[in-house]
Amino acid sequence: MCGIVAVVGLPRAIRVVMDGLYSLEYRGYDSAGVAWPGRGGLNVVRAAGRVSELAALLGDRADAEVETAMGHTRWATHGVPCERNAHPHVSADGRIAVVHNGIIDNYAPIKADLEAEGVVFRSDTDTEVVANMIAREYRGDLVRAVEAVIPKLDGTFAFCIMASDQPGLLVASRRGSPLAVGVGPGFNMAASDAMPIIPHTRRVVFLEDDQVAVITSGACEIRKGGRSVDYACTEIAWSPEAAQKDGYAHYMLKEIFEQPTVLENMFRNRLRLPPSSDADPEFLFEGLNIPDDYFRGVSRIVMLAQGTAYHACMVGRNMIERTTKIPSYPEYAADFRYRDPILDPSVLVIAVTQSGETMDTLHAVRLAKEAGCKVLAVVNVVGSSIAREADGVFYLNCGPEIGVASTKAFTAMIAGLYFLALRMGQIRGSIDRGELRRRVLDLLGIGARLNGILATDGAIRRIAAKYKNASNFLFLGRGTGWPLAMEGALKLKEVSYIHAEGYDAAEMKHGPIALVDENMPVLAIALQGSRYEKLIGNIQEIKARKGKVIALASLGDKRIRDIADDVIYVRAESGIMNSICCSIPLQLLAYHIAVARGCDVDKPKNLAKSVTVE
Ligand code: AGP
Repeated sequence: MCGIVAVVGLPRAIRVVMDGLYSLEYRGYDSAGVAWPGRGGLNVVRAAGRVSELAALLGDRADAEVETAMGHTRWATHGVPCERNAHPHVSADGRIAVVHNGIIDNYAPIKADLEAEGVVFRSDTDTEVVANMIAREYRGDLVRAVEAVIPKLDGTFAFCIMASDQPGLLVASRRGSPLAVGVGPGFNMAASDAMPIIPHTRRVVFLEDDQVAVITSGACEIRKGGRSVDYACTEIAWSPEAAQKDGYAHYMLKEIFEQPTVLENMFRNRLRLPPSSDADPEFLFEGLNIPDDYFRGVSRIVMLAQGTAYHACMVGRNMIERTTKIPSYPEYAADFRYRDPILDPSVLVIAVTQSGETMDTLHAVRLAKEAGCKVLAVVNVVGSSIAREADGVFYLNCGPEIGVASTKAFTAMIAGLYFLALRMGQIRGSIDRGELRRRVLDLLGIGARLNGILATDGAIRRIAAKYKNASNFLFLGRGTGWPLAMEGALKLKEVSYIHAEGYDAAEMKHGPIALVDENMPVLAIALQGSRYEKLIGNIQEIKARKGKVIALASLGDKRIRDIADDVIYVRAESGIMNSICCSIPLQLLAYHIAVARGCDVDKPKNLAKSVTVE
């Protein structure tokens, strides 16, 4: 889950690479390095820690007049985070430098062979093995050497490779890990995603598995199986500004406050509600590519995801089943892909992912496709692997999500699944027109309603200050409140490092209530609705054991104020809207507690934004 970036043909190439590494730091930030060709051979500078440490070490060399450079920011897999294991790695003979994102599964036996041939290794990484393999093949033709090595590798990789005697050439390749090539006038780039590329060019090629990119300042060749292949560029719409903090203290806070606009824009040009009540809502979106008939024959829906995306699937299940009458199952992709699941072509698989690169979800999608299932991806990153491999894509269009803790993508995923559920319900005739119009109206109006909730930010910050020293936290909910409780707990864990668990409140008496005492804060999602009384009962059980309760409650609910220690009010809405409305207070609470504890909210320890390894 590292970030790599490289450029040929732009002046001050090291500066371009450093700026790129900063924009990729959300992918891994435990060490970093750059390499560039020089008269005396390859120059390599590496540092443990953030990109800023590397910048300090580089000093004004960052502005050296060179036109080729490559860099890497790391999330350690093989070898502890330190300068010695930081990338780029150079072959023992000093001729080949490599930056790598991924894991080479068969590196150990290859390393042993190379050591037997006298190669001395300086790091504990799998990547250094690849640099020496390429050096062993290298007779002046870098492309041929790389193409000779790739078939010998098991595992996942995105590489950028440089040779000391070919200063104007970079060779890149990928299998499993993402790699984008930026095609510019008089320069070309390669990077783990489009972020470092879009300030320079919007024309991007997303490499397929086992393709090799040969880039110089004047040309970009894509090869596969030792031959050139045709390629098409994708025009990336995101603006570089979208990747700025816009005056917010953290990306996480900016992305929380972006949610009203994101949800308002999400359905612009995709959903139309004709004024006449006899008219059906119109669902207009490109990328579906799955015929309506297929949806009429779907027997089961499986939703694949990890982390926050999985929680969105749990919320999605309730509304998809209610709207389409199709049994629907959220599945952890990592478990699904090794469980030999029962699949057939009538099973619709929905892959839900912000990055579109989560390795377990990608492989679970491939498994489903092998079984003949149709795969619909609900994804944010344009051109990502899962988006490209799915049969149909629903893009969230959230803009870049940079904070490692996912926020706007979560509510957008819920709204996106709701949109798909309504469309499937319309196709299958499992929801009547009146109900469909009411729900479409809800969806179209959600953005505007969220502003009211963001206005409670101050109150939530005050509550957060009270609980910032907690060492444990419980989150409870029922119905869609259950996955929200799990998401609230995940957000708090990720950014504040407080141990937090989310439960279906009905599960408390079966064990977790043993954890409750005066030191255990409990957040209860207790909006008025069919399970309100049950939640009140759970809250009273916790209060009976001196637990501290923060209630997420419906505006105007006076009763809960007498029971709970603190109350966060949200304007109650209909079903799905409650899930989206409740998500924001959970995100803000985690954010403010983490800030109060002095945590690095945007780059929490041990995490990375996109999990591209198993
Ligand atoms: C959420 O805040 C985390 N960053 C993580 O759990 C994330 O949701 C998970 O890794 C899935 O990522 P994806 O949506 O990009 O597939």
